[in-house]
Amino acid sequence: MELLEERIRKDGIVKEGNVLKVDNFLNHQMDIELFDEMGKEFKRLFADKPINKILTIEASGIGIACVVARHFHVPVVFAKKTQSINIDGEVYSSKVESFTHKRVYDVIVSKKYLSPDDHVLIIDDFLANGCAVNGLIEIIEKSGATVEGIGIAVEKGWQIGGKTLRDQGYQLESLAIVESMDPATGEIVFRH
Ligand code: G4P
Ligand code: NA
Ligand code: NA
Repeated sequence: MELLEERIRKDGIVKEGNVLKVDNFLNHQMDIELFDEMGKEFKRLFADKPINKILTIEASGIGIACVVARHFHVPVVFAKKTQSINIDGEVYSSKVESFTHKRVYDVIVSKKYLSPDDHVLIIDDFLANGCAVNGLIEIIEKSGATVEGIGIAVEKGWQIGGKTLRDQGYQLESLAIVESMDPATGEIVFRH
């Protein structure tokens, strides 16, 4: 998506350790007009899917998912990050390992909000190794619902998440795929 790539070029900051900072429009301050264009694009890309629910994960997926949901006219459910100690029989749960944050946490969704009738679009801001998305897929599978697709704002193309999900046959649509980025020069190359 040209608009998102332009914005990443303009306002994205390439950090050491493979991290792309996009706090100016995506992860801290949020550009809702841009999110709205992203929602329109996801709607176009997933037009033929019978999506009745959007699933994301806290925290930074929520804002995007809410704006995207306006284009699908469906509710948003967000998976909560929690400690194992709180997990009871009322929730679906999975373990997510965060490489960026160097820890493992549990994510949960109440059984009230996912069922075999649901056709789910997963939305998240970043795709790196795919740990967060895999956790969401596991939760959807436990509930008996169907994964209709995965919509990502920014995919880091050299990390394994995107390839793994596409090889598994999921319709994965990333609005910008960063092929490479250089913290020394700030140069960002996109895949098309
Ligand atoms: P993975 O889920 O794809 O395996 O990613 P990883 O564990 O490496 O990332 C952990 C968190 O960091 C995720 O946010 C992910 O969206 C985010 N992230 C990964 N790489 C980048 C990056 O280059 N730039 C930015 N801005 N974020 C990145 P999260 O765990 O969902 O945390 P939250 O920030 O949403 O609360
Ligand atoms: Na994040
Ligand atoms: Na996220």
